[in-house]
Amino acid sequence: MSGWFRVFSPATIGNIGPGFDVLGMAVKGLGDVVWARRRRRGIRILEIRSPTPLPSDPSRNTASLAAANVLKILGETGGLDLRIHKGLPAGSGLGSSAASAAAGAFAANWLYGRHLSTEQLILAATQAEAEVSGGFFADNTAPALLGGATLTRCCVPLDVTRIGIVRRLRIVLVTPSITVLTRDARRILPATVPMSAFVANMANTALITAAFAKNDYSLFARSLHDVVIEPVRARLIKGFDQVKQNALKAGADGMAISGSGPTVFAITDNPGKARAIEQQMVLTFNAMGIASRSWVTSMDPHGTRMLEDGHAGK
Ligand code: HSE
Repeated sequence: MSGWFRVFSPATIGNIGPGFDVLGMAVKGLGDVVWARRRRRGIRILEIRSPTPLPSDPSRNTASLAAANVLKILGETGGLDLRIHKGLPAGSGLGSSAASAAAGAFAANWLYGRHLSTEQLILAATQAEAEVSGGFFADNTAPALLGGATLTRCCVPLDVTRIGIVRRLRIVLVTPSITVLTRDARRILPATVPMSAFVANMANTALITAAFAKNDYSLFARSLHDVVIEPVRARLIKGFDQVKQNALKAGADGMAISGSGPTVFAITDNPGKARAIEQQMVLTFNAMGIASRSWVTSMDPHGTRMLEDGHAGK
């Protein structure tokens, strides 16, 4: 297929525990591949391969919306064709729409001269995600584009920084077959929080930031506590408390909800233990009649990237 480029964008955990709407990280081995080529004008989606149905109308898909935002910033009148191969289940809490948005923004910028900074691409992708999800937050789009862990200080104007990576961190992801809509998971959150809870979450978020900056696994492990969001959202994930208890019993150093769920993630720095933890979590969901998918992975330091440069054979 001549003229096609292939872009990969990773799955993301955003937010991470106490860092609601602020902390996010990219994970290895899972993500979307978007093929892109130039066309004279307009954006078309020629193909979507996805385990769950997704809109191929370019005005409703985050990949095309993000690409359109990039073309607009560039003042470009040209267009592009896209083929989207989803490696991520939609609505899982793994940043599926953000991965497509990041790949779409990256591809459009690449095809039209690479004039935009990564921060501008994050804005284009975040706006695209907001058009589809209704919420404007960059804790998935930022790590998807930058790789590693990121911190969003502010969305308007966008102020995002890449923090770093914890190399020893092993992440056990388990996605139960439960539907949790981000919109619903946000609607149930408290409007105010007690001062003691605010202080606890602020302290843990600050320590997680330090952990990524210092590449310090044990600091991360002892800071993965969220006393504000998790207790409320856990109610949307049947079996959450038991899965967490059994993950900890199997040797995990912590477990939290990935984004707004339903995916949960447990952490360890022991690759041998990771499989046992994964098994316990899956078995616990199973015992409650809930099937799940699971992965053992680590952090993706690179973020969105080109897989092959031009004229890529399919
Ligand atoms: N930070 C958002 C939330 C991410 O937790 O609601 C949603 O994927």
